[in-house]
This record gives sequence, structure tokens and C-alpha cells, in this order.
Amino acid sequence: MGNYSVGIIGTGAYVPEKVLTNFDLEKMVETSDEWISTRTGIKERRIAAKEQASSDLAYEAAKKALESANLSAEDLDLIIVATVTPDSAFPSTANILQDRLGASRAAAFDLAAACSGFLYALATGAQFIQNGTYQHVLVIGVEVLSKITDWKDRNTCVLFGDGAGAAVLGRVEEGYGFLSFELGSDGSGGNLLKLPAGGSRMPASCETVEQGLHFIQMSGSEVFKFAVKTMEQASLNVIEKAGMTKEEVDFLVPHQANLRIINFARERLGLDESKVVVNLDRYGNMSSASIPVALDEAIREQRIKKGDHVLLVGFGAGLTWGAALLKWYGQE
Ligand code: ACO
Repeated sequence: MGNYSVGIIGTGAYVPEKVLTNFDLEKMVETSDEWISTRTGIKERRIAAKEQASSDLAYEAAKKALESANLSAEDLDLIIVATVTPDSAFPSTANILQDRLGASRAAAFDLAAACSGFLYALATGAQFIQNGTYQHVLVIGVEVLSKITDWKDRNTCVLFGDGAGAAVLGRVEEGYGFLSFELGSDGSGGNLLKLPAGGSRMPASCETVEQGLHFIQMSGSEVFKFAVKTMEQASLNVIEKAGMTKEEVDFLVPHQANLRIINFARERLGLDESKVVVNLDRYGNMSSASIPVALDEAIREQRIKKGDHVLLVGFGAGLTWGAALLKWYGQE
């Protein structure tokens, strides 16, 4: 077993074309652009077409990530798709994507850690490269949350959006790439954010459909409190594990659930607004896709440069949280 430096060597993102604005939502539920903007920072979100499933969004993001890594699908050893909205329970969305990409050598599996899913998948994929088992791992965060959203529930329907973000992991120059990871779980908070039916506890039936149990249920203010606490603690832990101080962080790419949560984390880390990547105004909360889409945008806009210390941090259903600190390199 080796001990290789691992980093992100390519990124890609895709969001569906259809835009749903706060003003559109005003016509659907009792809400206002003013309420949504001031409470969350969200202005609009993207909604997948009727025929689009997670693997369709993931495919577009994956192609772009492979292109930016200068690799072809045959170079991939492993595909991990983080999602809570797979095309179906099985085959996994990763299997569907593997076939569609023509990644004939790649193993493939899905990973479920809700909004922390991309960070869980990054940490998992990086191990295989670090120990020399694999050379290239494709990690995707993808969600079509619009299809598990109750469009009559104003407490949740204003928050979410659809999208996909991808990252190719590979070996990088020593000293660059991932410096530390932090993953966590508190299953006692599972009831705060859940999709009750459709699994083995409560299989789909006419009753579950009638009662709307196939939609997201959330205790917003409880999740808010958890998020604020966790974003700060997970960030500080991952910085400490890397033997660094918060002053050395150059960019924060946080999960995009609520601007107030992001601002709280930013202030606790003492970062200037210009050092925080925010896209929730345009996309809302895309769960596992939020961080990779934001990261891809920051890379393509050349905001993040070689040598920058980038902190990724998120939280979500489970409850779960995750963080990663990396020294940005790009490709070896
Ligand atoms: N439009 C207008 N009014 C609304 C809306 C809406 N869309 N939604 C709720 N309200 C009302 C509520 O009914 C409540 O009214 P009441 O006081 O008469 O009962 C009032 O607004 C205030 O509600 P609060 O819940 O106290 O508002 P809060 O400031 O906490 O904001 C929010 C709510 C935005 C949901 C916030 O709690 C939040 O962001 N929580 C975190 C959610 C989150 O991060 N979820 C994603 C987790 S990631 C994952 O795994 C999917």
C-alpha cells in the first residue's frame, strides 16, 4: 500500500434549464419573494424536466469533469454517486452512469448521506487513491429534489432545487490536495429531516401516497440550530487536523442551505465575504450537489488558484456532517 497525495484534478456541473423564481412560488403557495429572500437568500432554483432523472444530470456533470481532467471514461477506476434521489432503489445511479459514460473498468456504487453526501464520497474515494488501490475516482453529488418536494408545503418547497456537480480525484504533487477530512453522524436527529415512505419500514401504498409520505419532511428551526453549530465545529476540527489555523483558510465552499447559516460560519471563521463561494441565490439547496456545483463555478471563474487552502463544509439529514480541507493544485 502506498501513501499518495490525492486532490481534485477536474470538476464539472450541470443544472436543468427550467428556472423557478420566488415570484413563481408566490403563485403556488402563500409566500413572498421578500420572505424567502430575507430568511434564506434564495431567489430562484432549477427544476428538472419531467423526463430527467438524477443519472441524466450526473451524466452531463461527469462529462465536463472528465474533460477538465483531460481523461476519458475508460480511465476511471471507481464511480461514487452521492444522492438521496437515485433514479430508483436499484440498480444504483452509479451503475447507470457507468454504463452511459462507457466507464468499462470502473466499479460503481451510490452513497447516501443527504447534503453531506459529496463530502462523504470525497473522503471515501480519496482513500482508494491515497493507498494506491486506484488512480482515478469520479465523485458526483446529484439531486432531483423537485420530485420529492411537497409543492403545497411552503415550509420546504421554497428551499430546494435540482442539479449535479462532479469531481475527478487523482494523484497530485506532494503537499497538495486533501490535507484532512472530518465526517460525523448523529442519528438521534434523524426525525428532523426525513422522507418517511418508500423503504422497508413503510413500503409504498395507496395510503402512503394519499398521506404525502413520499415527500421531504423537515423541522426547519431545529435543523437550523444544528447547522449553525455543526458548520463551525466541523470547520474548526478539519483545520486543526490539518495542523493549520483558521487565518490560513483562503476559500470557504459551504453547503448552500441558507445564507444566514453560511454567514454565521463565515463570521466565526473570520473570513471576508469575497472568500466565500455562494450560489444559493440562483440554485437554492441542491443537497449533495450544492458544494460540487459551487466549487466548479469558483474554479471556472478562476477565483480559486494553485496553493489556495480551500475548506469544504456541509451538514444534512441523518443527521450528518462533513468537512474537507485541501491545498488546491489541479492536475499533476
Ligand atoms: N413563506 C412565508 N412564510 C413562511 C414560509 C414561506 N415559504 N415558510 C414558513 N413560513 C412561516 C412559518 O409558518 C412561521 O410562521 P408562524 O410564526 O406563524 O408559525 C414563520 O414563517 C417563521 O418560521 P420559522 O421556521 O421560525 O422561520 P426561520 O427563520 O427558522 O426560517 C427556514 C425557516 C428558512 C426553513 C430555516 O429554519 C432554515 O433554513 N432551516 C434550515 C433548513 C435546512 O438547512 N434544511 C436543509 C437541510 S439539508 C438536507 O439534508 C436536505
